[in-house]
Amino acid sequence: MANNAMSYLLEHVSEQCFCQQSRMTARAVTRRYGAAFASVGLEATEFSLLAALALGRSASIAGLADHLAFERTTLVRNLQRMASRGLIRAADTRSRSLRYVLTPLGEDLLKKALPLWAGVQAAVQGQLKSNEAATALKSMAALRRATEKCHLACHAFHPSTQETIMSVASEPVLVIGATGRHGGTGAVVARLLRERGLPVRALTRNADARVAPLRSIGVEVVTGDLQDRRSLKVALEGVSVAYFTYPIAEGIVEAAANFASAGRAAGLKRVVVMSMGASHPDSPSHLGRAQWLAEETLEWAGFSCLHLRIAAFFFENLALLHRADIAAEGVMRNSYADVAVSWISGEDAGKLAVAALLHPERFGSEAAVYPSGSRSYSQGEIAQLVGRYLGRPVRHETISREAWRERLVALSAHDDRINNDMAGHISALGAAIRQARPSNDMFEAVMGEKSLSLPEALASGRLSFS
Ligand SMILES: NC(=O)c1ccc[n+]([C@@H]2O[C@H](COP(=O)([O-])OP(=O)(O)OC[C@H]3O[C@@H](n4cnc5c(N)ncnc54)[C@H](OP(=O)(O)O)[C@@H]3O)[C@@H](O)[C@H]2O)c1
Repeated sequence: MANNAMSYLLEHVSEQCFCQQSRMTARAVTRRYGAAFASVGLEATEFSLLAALALGRSASIAGLADHLAFERTTLVRNLQRMASRGLIRAADTRSRSLRYVLTPLGEDLLKKALPLWAGVQAAVQGQLKSNEAATALKSMAALRRATEKCHLACHAFHPSTQETIMSVASEPVLVIGATGRHGGTGAVVARLLRERGLPVRALTRNADARVAPLRSIGVEVVTGDLQDRRSLKVALEGVSVAYFTYPIAEGIVEAAANFASAGRAAGLKRVVVMSMGASHPDSPSHLGRAQWLAEETLEWAGFSCLHLRIAAFFFENLALLHRADIAAEGVMRNSYADVAVSWISGEDAGKLAVAALLHPERFGSEAAVYPSGSRSYSQGEIAQLVGRYLGRPVRHETISREAWRERLVALSAHDDRINNDMAGHISALGAAIRQARPSNDMFEAVMGEKSLSLPEALASGRLSFS
């Protein structure tokens, strides 16, 4: 009986193995073409060889083997069999290398086979949609090239992917922030990994009621605090891959330093970091600058990091930061100008993190990437969409950075998910964005689908305005 780790790898084999998929295709295609040539007593491979030889693609056996991607010994066996049937013969040549040409019998057979080939080729093409034939040929050639390159440099080719697949299948992935109450990306990561049958360990500060749903889906819960290095040892034991997130709050640099130090000692290798587009040494937000320093710290520890600098705001901010004003006055007051910027749900940011954990190659070779959501909205559009969802008018009003900061600090007295640093961060970012910042297509390229739109996120019921 396959255990979880094995099942995960076996799923990979059945759905994504290039070798298995191409052999399945080759078997089906060979059967169909072979059936077409049966009436003239030719096999599909013999037809390909006759056609290549007739075109003079046989300066040498080695050249022919390269041209048709044949194993040399298999090619020689095939040629010898065709020669013994009188279809080809060794050419008279002064060169030492053997080459074959068609005999009159071989030429005759090729002439009879060509219309049969044209018939079966047209029949298969007729089953494909308009662009599929060209795409299939291109993809097959690309796969051949990639496989040959990989033969030359197999270990230089995405070692992180190989390592990740092996380690996540056999050891728990450590997930930080699985009890989050803002974007909640950690909970999404834990859930999606468990849905794939992978072992997950969550580091939580408290074993309160929020860990029960994690345990119910088979997550191992370990208590620890990123601000206390001593408490991280147990969580990191036997872990090679981790998901790191930290709330929009002060303390991320110390948290990352503790995690880096304890992770190094425990043999941690890869870290996917939930970060923000504002992570930069010159960010207008003090938390943007701190985030950047935290990322540097993780890099210095020598981990292979992928920093997901999400270039979008979370839809969850709308409920968290504006619910009170919307309820009382039907207004969204903040320091943003009414320009379009990208938005994404915490769920989709979590999905990106899972892709980064399991398929780092999809993100290219940079250590920091800037995926946005698939859609941009101005504040006016957001107010309108939220109003439509709530069934009453909502408008947007730009206020100064300081006024919004003060408003958020006041809210933090009643909601522990908001804090002074978050207030300073978001009001500074809002005030710094004065021109539209369009979305990019990284989410779609990585996930193969668009991220949730605002109406979809509202309809999901995950944003509570009550
Ligand atoms: N909001 C946005 O618009 C936005 C946009 C782009 C990127 N991001 C990125 O998203 C990240 C936040 O992710 P998120 O929304 O998933 O976070 P979140 O929902 O706020 O969750 C944060 C998690 O971290 C845990 N935590 C806090 N302090 C800890 C400590 N000392 N030790 C261990 N765990 C600790 C919290 O545990 P408790 O539950 O015990 O507090 C919670 O589970 C930010 O760093 C930001 O860069 C956000």
